[in-house]
Amino acid sequence: MFNGIVKKWLHRKMREESNSSLLMFNKRLDDSHMVPDIDPTLTPEEKADIILSQLTFSEKAELLGGTERMAIKGIPRLKIPKIWTTDASAGVRCFQRATAFPVPIAMAASWNREMLYKIGETIGKECRAKGVSVLLGPGVNIYRVPTAGRNFEYFGEDPFLSGEMAVSYIKGVQSKGVIATVKHFACNNSEYDRHKMNSKVDERTLREIYLPAFKSAIQKGGVKSVMSAYNPVNGVYASENRHLLTEILRDEWGFDGYVVSDWISVYSTVGPLKAGLDLEMPEGKYLNLKTIQQQIDNGLLNEADIDRPVRNLLKTFFEAGVYHRPLKDKQYPEFCAQHSQISLDAARESIVLLKNEHNFLPLNKSRIKKMIIVGEMAQNTTTCGGGSCRIKSHDSVSILEGIKNETNNEFDIEFLKATKNRLTGSEINRIASADVVLVSVGFTHVEESECYDKSWDLPDNQARMIGMVAGSNPNTIITLTTGSGVETESWISNIPAVLHCFFLGEKGGTAVADVLFGKVNPSGKLPFTMAKKWSDFGSTKYYVKKPHKTSPFRIFGPPRYPIFNKKWDLEYKEKLMVGYRHFDTQKIEPQFPFGFGLSFTEFVLSDLELSHNKIEISELAAGRRVEIRVQVTNSGNRAGSEVVQLYVRDVESSLIRPDKELKGFGKIYLEPGESKFIEMSIGLDDFSFFNSITGKWVAEPGEFRLLIGNSSQNILFNHALILTDKLMN
Ligand code: BGC
Repeated sequence: MFNGIVKKWLHRKMREESNSSLLMFNKRLDDSHMVPDIDPTLTPEEKADIILSQLTFSEKAELLGGTERMAIKGIPRLKIPKIWTTDASAGVRCFQRATAFPVPIAMAASWNREMLYKIGETIGKECRAKGVSVLLGPGVNIYRVPTAGRNFEYFGEDPFLSGEMAVSYIKGVQSKGVIATVKHFACNNSEYDRHKMNSKVDERTLREIYLPAFKSAIQKGGVKSVMSAYNPVNGVYASENRHLLTEILRDEWGFDGYVVSDWISVYSTVGPLKAGLDLEMPEGKYLNLKTIQQQIDNGLLNEADIDRPVRNLLKTFFEAGVYHRPLKDKQYPEFCAQHSQISLDAARESIVLLKNEHNFLPLNKSRIKKMIIVGEMAQNTTTCGGGSCRIKSHDSVSILEGIKNETNNEFDIEFLKATKNRLTGSEINRIASADVVLVSVGFTHVEESECYDKSWDLPDNQARMIGMVAGSNPNTIITLTTGSGVETESWISNIPAVLHCFFLGEKGGTAVADVLFGKVNPSGKLPFTMAKKWSDFGSTKYYVKKPHKTSPFRIFGPPRYPIFNKKWDLEYKEKLMVGYRHFDTQKIEPQFPFGFGLSFTEFVLSDLELSHNKIEISELAAGRRVEIRVQVTNSGNRAGSEVVQLYVRDVESSLIRPDKELKGFGKIYLEPGESKFIEMSIGLDDFSFFNSITGKWVAEPGEFRLLIGNSSQNILFNHALILTDKLMN
C-alpha cells in the first residue's frame, strides 16, 4: 500500500515535470544556424584545438556542466551552438510526440540485427527533424535479477546478444549524424537503491559479463558517447571511477568520444575530473567555475584537467558534424506512417510464443462465435515502462483494439475489465460459455519503472484471476505485458497458450492480434531465462529480499538527502553464473530457457559445415576465424523465421567456466519447404576467458564444443573443435 502510494506520487511528479518546460516534453526547438568561423576542411582534432585555444578559463569550466535540463552549453561568442540531447532507446522522448518503438528488451527478443539498425536509423531521423544531436541511449546493463526496474530498457541477460543489439542500434542512430550514448557504465543492474548500492564485482565477472556489451558498442559500434552510472562500483562512484572511465574505456578499448554523467550522479569535483568524466548533467553542480577554481587554488586540479574534457566534447561534436549544420533537418519527418510501420514490424518480431499446446494458436476465426477478453491491461496496454525511456506517441493501439480491428465484427467480443482483478459470478458464467478467452495481465508503467524494482509475482490478484478464468474455461490464452520474467509456475499448467508481449510500443495491440490470428508467425526468442521460482536464479540469494519495496530515500539518493548517503555493498557473488549460465551449469530446469520461443511452423537444422575441426591458437590470434554454416529448412506449411544460436563450451579449462556461452546467432526467414544456410563465425575472443591475475584474456588449448540449436537448451548439433598451441608441444 505504502509502496503503491510512493510509486504513484513519483510518477505524478514526473508527469508534472515533463509537462513543465523541465523535461522538454512539450517544447519545440527553434531552428537556428550558428556556425563557428573555422576552416571546415580541418580535422575534428585540429578544430577542437583551435577553439580550445580561443576559450577563456571561465568559458572552459562552465562548459563542463549542462543547461536547461537536456542541453550541453554552447559558446555564442565563438558561434558554437548549444547541443540538445534526448532520451532515448524506445524513441525520442523530448520535444513533443514521436514514434514509440517496442522497448529494448523486446527489440532484443527479435534477435534481428537489421531490425535494430532500422529502429536506430528511424530514431536518428526523428532526432534530426526535432533538432536533437545526442540520443541518450541505448542502455546495455545486464539483466541480473528478474525484478530489476529497468530490465525493459536493456537487451537482456547475455553479454553477446546485448552487444550485438547495441552495435546495430548505434550504427543506425549514428548513420543519421546523431551521437548515440551507451549507458549506464557500469553495473547499474537494478534500481532498488541505485545511488547507494555499491556493485561489488570481481574483475573477471566484470570483464566477462558486465562490460562486453559496452566494449562492443565502442569497438564495433563506434559509439561516440558513454554515460556513467549512478551507483558505485567496487567502492567508487561510477562517475569518478578511474579504473572504468580511463584505464578500461580509453587506455584499453581506445574510446575517443566523451563521457557524460547520468542525471544527478556526480558527487564531487576533483574525483570525476581526474577519473575521466567529461560532462556533468543536467547542470554543473560540482563541475562549474567556482568549484573548479577552488580546487585549482587548493592545488588539487590544474588547467589541463579541464582542457581534456572540453577538447573531448568539442572534438566529438565536430566529428559528428553537429556544429556545421542547421539544428533541424527538414528532409526528415518528426513521425510518419512509415515510422509507425517500422514500430509495428518490430513489435511483430518481438512477441515470444511461450506455450502453444496442441497448436491452440493461431485462432481460427470461423470457429469462434464468442470471445471474451479479460483484464484492464487489454484496454490500457502498457506501451513502455516508466521513467526516462517512456515516449509520448501520437497513437497507441491496445490489445483490445488490436483484436477488434483484426476481427472486424466477424464474431462477438465481450470485454470484462475485471476491476481490481475480480470477476463476478455472472461474468464467470459468461466466461465458461465463451469459445475462447484471453486474459491480459502485466505491469503498468508505474508498477515497472526506472527508480525502483518491480515484483516477481504478477501485481495485485492477477495470478488468482487467471486461475479463476482457466478454471471456468480451458480455452484460455494469456498475454504477458512486462519487460522481464515473472512468476508463471502457479498458473501456467492449466493454460494452453501464452504470449510474452513485453512493452511493444505504439502498435503493440495490432502486433498481438496479428499473432493470435495467424497473420504473423511469431519468431521472438527470450533474451532472458524465465525461472519457475525467484530463488532459482544464481543472483537472487545475494540480492535484497523484498526488491519491490520502495522508499523515497532510496529513490532520490545522496544529493538531496546527504545524511542518508551511506553506500552499502551489493555483492555479485554468483559471479559469472548469470541467467542461463547458472541454470545450465547447475542443471536447474527453467520454466522457459534463454533463447526459447515457439513458431507456428517447424524448422529442421541440417548439413553443419565447419571450416576447422582443429585450429592453432596463434592462427586465431592472427585474426583467422572458424566459419560455421548450417542449413535451415522450413518443414511446416507456414512461412516463418528461425533464430539459430551458437554456444561455445570449454571442455578443458583451468578455471571454472559456465556450461555454455552464446557466441553467434542468425535469424532467417523461410517460405514453407524452403532451405537456406545461416553463416556464423567465431574468433579468438569467443574461446577466451579473463585471467584476473595476469589481467589478460586467455584461450587455452584443448577441446571445445560448438553447440548449435534454437534455444540454449535445445541443442541440435554438438561438435568438437580442438584448439592447439604449438608453443606448448
Ligand atoms: C536516467 C538516464 C537518462 C537521464 C536523462 C536518468 O534518470 O538514468 O538513463 O538518460 O535520466 O533523462
